[in-house]
Amino acid sequence: MKENRPSATAQRVAMRRAAHQLLDDPKVFDDPVALRIIGKESASALQADPRQFESTPLSAYLRAFIAARSRYAEDELALGVRRGVRQYVILGAGLDTFAQRNPHPEGLLHVFEVDHPTTQTWKRARLEEIGTTLPGDLTFAPVDFETQALEEGLRDAGYNPSKCTFFSWLGVTEYLTPEVVMATLCYIASAPAGSRVVFDYMISPSLLTPAQRLRFDALARRVASAGEPWQAFFDPELLTRNLRSMGFGYVEDKGPEEINARYFKNRKDRLRVGSLSHLMNAQV
Ligand SMILES: C[S@@+](CC[C@H](N)C(=O)[O-])C[C@H]1O[C@@H](n2cnc3c(N)ncnc32)[C@H](O)[C@@H]1O
Repeated sequence: MKENRPSATAQRVAMRRAAHQLLDDPKVFDDPVALRIIGKESASALQADPRQFESTPLSAYLRAFIAARSRYAEDELALGVRRGVRQYVILGAGLDTFAQRNPHPEGLLHVFEVDHPTTQTWKRARLEEIGTTLPGDLTFAPVDFETQALEEGLRDAGYNPSKCTFFSWLGVTEYLTPEVVMATLCYIASAPAGSRVVFDYMISPSLLTPAQRLRFDALARRVASAGEPWQAFFDPELLTRNLRSMGFGYVEDKGPEEINARYFKNRKDRLRVGSLSHLMNAQV
């Protein structure tokens, strides 16, 4: 991320979630706050031209993946809450709106939004600008994953390490160094039994076909020019083994076929996810 600037990709991803609300029927991820959180000006521009990001065939794949990963994380979180999860830690929260939509009875599920301090300050200003009342069940924890210990940031925010916790980490791992990603996963593996993490990650370019590699390079150039270059990529088999050796007893990797079968079956518009990223679901 560029020093002293909020994450540009956080706004871009939120714009695509908002575009999903306007363009796709049925919606894979229903977020009634998605349009407001992008800010008044961007929301008006998007309503006037919902296809403003549809410049290349990659756009629909990207929008589909952004919708699917949030849906998957929140589906798994809902199952977790039924089994005793009482804390939800959103790592690299960006403009995620779960805290504004928390469907659970007050006091049941505490939400911690962890993000780079600059992005978090910007998000808090955005929440104020759109007139949102902050829910009592939400705590902000400013942490730069590259320079600060997540454990400390969470502790300072009042996170209880003995409670069963669900972590989501969406659209973030590729922007960090592989060492930081692995260290963070090791920390999550130390959470109480039943705790879980859902995250997405980019497939190592060496495993891609030439056609996939062209799409990868086009997207990589775009994020690098926004000052947020991709740094971490993984081999699904190796990552699965590494998670098991960290102490995750249940590890499930979901590739595009499974994601499409689960969330994009029989659509008339043929919306579906592409093949550059996977979703990982690991339980302690
Ligand atoms: C593409 S956005 C995704 C935001 C959100 N998870 C979503 O899906 O809408 C990437 C997020 O990672 C965060 N991030 C990137 N580098 C970070 C770092 N070193 N420490 C903390 N957060 C970081 C950014 O601030 C931003 O919120």
